[in-house]
Amino acid sequence: MNAMSNAEVIDHEFNRLREKLPLWLQENRRFCRDGKVASYIPELSKASGNHLGIHIIDASGRSLSAGDCGVAFTMQSISKVFTLLLALMDRGEEAVFDKVGMEPTGDQFNSMLKLELVQPSIPFNPMINAGAIVISSLINGSGPAEKSERTLQFFRLLAGNNKLDFDNDVYRTESASADLNRSMAYFLKDKGVLACPVDEVLEVYFKHCSINATCSDLARMALVLASGGRDPVTGAALIPRRYVQIAKTFMITCGMYNASGQFAIQVGLPAKSGVAGGILTLVPGKYGIGVFGPALNPKGNSSAGVRLLETLSKEMNWSLF
Ligand code: DON
Repeated sequence: MNAMSNAEVIDHEFNRLREKLPLWLQENRRFCRDGKVASYIPELSKASGNHLGIHIIDASGRSLSAGDCGVAFTMQSISKVFTLLLALMDRGEEAVFDKVGMEPTGDQFNSMLKLELVQPSIPFNPMINAGAIVISSLINGSGPAEKSERTLQFFRLLAGNNKLDFDNDVYRTESASADLNRSMAYFLKDKGVLACPVDEVLEVYFKHCSINATCSDLARMALVLASGGRDPVTGAALIPRRYVQIAKTFMITCGMYNASGQFAIQVGLPAKSGVAGGILTLVPGKYGIGVFGPALNPKGNSSAGVRLLETLSKEMNWSLF
């Protein structure tokens, strides 16, 4: 028997996904019950804990979806991957890593514990809240409005969706209840890590966390990373390959916070979660994937979403390791 060509292997894998995805989603829905919708940002508590959806796009633009994939949600921490990329493009590697480290913390996403343990007091990495707040201060722009607008335009470009926008209710309720993030920002300002006023940096940070998206937007943004920074449709270079490499490495080591090691063992793909229930992940060179399941496990990651990705990785043999 002749060996299958590369294109035939790709088609075979895609057809298997098409056939099995609805079943795998259904089987993992029960894990929604293990989680709880986030409530520390008041607006997020309105989400339904029973939702679970997924969207997958392959490198030729074919897509598959299952479950509650049409529901919009705010990107929250998933946005940190893309603000990091924007800051790298604006300022370069040296300036960015002068203000934020490259190491996982092993702590929760909003922990301040390690900030005082190192000299100078820079956050351990750009995926934790403290690190992402510093990254917000490095985005070019004359003030918070311009920085936020540039961020939104960059996200729209990567998602191929001009309708992406801020969710102003989520933005306002987060801004009004963010004493912990505010205290971190004041600490960083005191240590000379933040170049602009605290309120301005936090406006940029809360705004990018509040950008609304669906699973298909996440999948499309992930596909740009899976394609080494190129637009999968036009082939245009959108992000330098080196910066995509940096972002994907952070996704592996810190993207799922203090569950990153477990996720690397069970799924083995670069991923980033958000507290509204989204997970963005990718299979390098092959797929961009967006998952949504707002019921969160104790580490702040979508409980059913992580389980669904475990099933997919095992069944499709996707682990990079
Ligand atoms: O700053 C916060 O707490 C939120 N805007 C983002 C946190 C988040 O998404 C953590 N992810 N699991």
